[in-house]
Amino acid sequence: MKKITPASLSEIQQVTSWVTSEEDCRLWAGPKLAFPINFKTLPVEMDIEDSDSYALYDGDDLAGFGQLKRKGKERVHLARIIISPEHRKKGLGRILVGQLLEKGRQKGCIRASLNVYKGNRAAHWLYASLGFEILERPNSDQALNGSHYMECRLISK
Ligand SMILES: CC(C)(COP(=O)(O)OP(=O)(O)OC[C@H]1O[C@@H](n2cnc3c(N)ncnc32)[C@H](O)[C@@H]1OP(=O)(O)O)[C@@H](O)C(=O)NCCC(=O)NCCS
Repeated sequence: MKKITPASLSEIQQVTSWVTSEEDCRLWAGPKLAFPINFKTLPVEMDIEDSDSYALYDGDDLAGFGQLKRKGKERVHLARIIISPEHRKKGLGRILVGQLLEKGRQKGCIRASLNVYKGNRAAHWLYASLGFEILERPNSDQALNGSHYMECRLISK
């Protein structure tokens, strides 16, 4: 059974070991997380206090991670989605994002959003296949150079 559970700081630290270059780090977490990753500044740089962090397990293996942040009354924002390198391309990214969207629904949100860098084909493909569309970023969200803002509806119209 593959299920997301709230992630501890030590699980988050494990997840960072999957990121081995500055470019991978930027594609995963944006410009706020410095590389090499520093465990002292990590909680602030990853917005851990103000986000819900989730770990995805495949059996006993920590296989994925993602965060949710409420943006206003209707929207939940997904961030820092990652599947461990050895678990990629097996459908776990789809399971992880699907379960994060379900959490958003349970929180009463009707839209989910995320940012994805334009060159990140794997992530873009995954999000598009789950119904995310590229939209104009709301003024309330911080600009992120070189990225697309995407949204999907959590309940049908
Ligand atoms: C993006 C990421 C989470 C996808 O996880 P994954 O477990 O490999 O994805 P899945 O196996 O669930 O694949 C989902 C879809 O994406 C497609 N996909 C996955 N990797 C792909 C790749 N490298 N190129 C093209 N398409 C790809 C799959 O074909 C699949 O579509 P399908 O079901 O129609 O075949 C993973 O590549 C990752 O962790 N990347 C590094 C971190 C990152 O960039 N995070 C995104 C931040 S916005």
